[in-house]
Amino acid sequence: MGNQDNPAILVVGSMNMDLVLETERLPEPGESYFGDRYHYVLGGKGANQAVAAAKLGLDVVFVGRVGNDEHGNVVRENLRRQGIATDLIAVDPEQPTGLAVIILEPTGENRIFVYAGANMSIRLADLDEAFRRSFDAVLLNFEVPDEVIHEVCARARALNLPIIIDAGPARIFDMERMGTIEILSPNETETEALAGVACDTVDSAKAAAEELGRRSEAKHIVIKLGHRGALVYSDGNFHHVEAFDVDTVDTTAAGDAFTAGVAARYLRTGDLIDAVRFGNAAGAIAVTRLGAQPSLPDEAETLELYSSGCS
Ligand code: RIB
Repeated sequence: MGNQDNPAILVVGSMNMDLVLETERLPEPGESYFGDRYHYVLGGKGANQAVAAAKLGLDVVFVGRVGNDEHGNVVRENLRRQGIATDLIAVDPEQPTGLAVIILEPTGENRIFVYAGANMSIRLADLDEAFRRSFDAVLLNFEVPDEVIHEVCARARALNLPIIIDAGPARIFDMERMGTIEILSPNETETEALAGVACDTVDSAKAAAEELGRRSEAKHIVIKLGHRGALVYSDGNFHHVEAFDVDTVDTTAAGDAFTAGVAARYLRTGDLIDAVRFGNAAGAIAVTRLGAQPSLPDEAETLELYSSGCS
């Protein structure tokens, strides 16, 4: 691993259209409440991570499904314009393109409903052509069917390709079946779902990381801790990497920017702690901007924050 200028990565994941509603507060049950404004924004964990990785200089090939609808055309065309290979994105004849409804409060906290649509219709056969091509790593998230995740892991392992998993959204998942994973990266709620133990402080994250280590064959566990940074658990050792101090506008896709940042830097240098610091910089920039993909930083601005030492 490492020492490559432009590593190539296969992303198998979700694409969504995000409907973002900004509001002062949430309505009470039974109450109608006027939101302040809304925007349609490109999103979906897989697409966000793919775009972030491309902006950070990786060659990206995407496998996923959209619906036979206008949102599908828009999300696919956007990925293509970002320089991502989109020829393996299939159009599902039955399901609509994934949709996320994101309620955004002034603190920058969000609540997300996801209608997975075509993302959950990816077929194992959709993977065939991808695995005839050559990559340096595979990047996965949990917004696609379990059998697709397990199959990607099996095929990647057969080729000795490092597997990087962004374990979002939070759900229970059979991690044993994934076999050896290079990096498993959940956030706090995803960690709780996977490990079955609380994860809301650096200390509780350590206990949760140990439990994730017992439940999976991940070589490295990287828990995203939001404003607390990230916790790395490798070879029985912990390393807490502090977050960069920035003003939060919207946390949507910060985790996606982080995972892509970690992947990009790790594939280039092989130094995980350095990669997590780079991922923290990418995630920090993303929280300063509204929306998922419009918030994702490019390599120059990520390097600038990463090099600033302001964490
Ligand atoms: O990680 C953020 C993403 O989660 C949003 O873009 C939304 O589409 C949901 O998938």
